[in-house]
Amino acid sequence: MSLVWITGASRGIGEALAYAVASSGYDLILSARNKESLERVANTCRERGAGSVDILVFDLLDQEATATALKSLPRCPDIVVCNAGVSQRSRIADTKMQVFIELYRLNYLSIVQISLHFLQQEVRKRKDFHIVYISSIAGIHGIPLRAGYSSAKSALDRFSETLQAESEDDFFWHSNVVLGASKTNISFHALQGDHTKYEKQDPAQEKAVLPGIVAKKVWKSIRKKKKHIFVGMEFRHWLLYWVHSFFPRLATRLLSRAYRKGKVT
Ligand SMILES: NC(=O)c1ccc[n+]([C@@H]2O[C@H](COP(=O)([O-])OP(=O)(O)OC[C@H]3O[C@@H](n4cnc5c(N)ncnc54)[C@H](OP(=O)(O)O)[C@@H]3O)[C@@H](O)[C@H]2O)c1
Repeated sequence: MSLVWITGASRGIGEALAYAVASSGYDLILSARNKESLERVANTCRERGAGSVDILVFDLLDQEATATALKSLPRCPDIVVCNAGVSQRSRIADTKMQVFIELYRLNYLSIVQISLHFLQQEVRKRKDFHIVYISSIAGIHGIPLRAGYSSAKSALDRFSETLQAESEDDFFWHSNVVLGASKTNISFHALQGDHTKYEKQDPAQEKAVLPGIVAKKVWKSIRKKKKHIFVGMEFRHWLLYWVHSFFPRLATRLLSRAYRKGKVT
């Protein structure tokens, strides 16, 4: 049975994706830092029809721990979904350097590390490997209060495009997911400038599409081996996407105006 590894599977999109994959009867590896939550998600996956379900508890901020986890995988997964991520809520001028380092390590460099492990080692032994990155509309254009998160997702998007360009003729698959918004606790766990958590739910997040709906669409698109997946995109996200594509300076002006009016939280 095919094996799917999902990072950040202890809650939110990763948890919902684990249930979508479990319903297809696949084997699963679920990873995150919170062991108790992972065990809860793993048990639900078993109830919903997954094959084997293993959990891997480690911190993606720790490069050594990530390398050890990669070596400890029971076998090479068929599909790896790099989903774990943390957002930000602080102005650049109020943000400690450590916060930028962590946002880059988790949202970008840990994914580079995972990608290198498979593309340079494991993938050479197989013909159907598929790696998926969960990115964000924040990677398309810099969003106020999210400089570290937005630019790390943007770095991931450029890495993803390069991987796509370099590997068109290769025998592995790669997908990039641009996610608009989903009703998870992402803003609750977002980092503030002093490294504390924001611990508030954004009003826009509250109204966004449920993670179960996002997960079903993402899983369906992964199975169809779609390279570019847009999900959870509201009118405001498409507007930013299109304005940025043709008039990037106008996109900055519109975001600046929205920020000054208190519409970006
Ligand atoms: N929700 C949205 O509106 C939205 C919009 C655009 C993009 N996205 C992207 O979607 C992905 C999932 O977000 P979400 O909304 O599901 O967020 P979430 O509910 O906060 O879940 C984040 C997941 O990442 C894991 N994680 C965080 N720090 C980690 C670390 N240092 N090491 C290992 N795992 C870590 C968390 O597990 P532990 O805390 O247990 O480690 C958790 O499972 C992220 O990449 C995010 O950027 C979300």
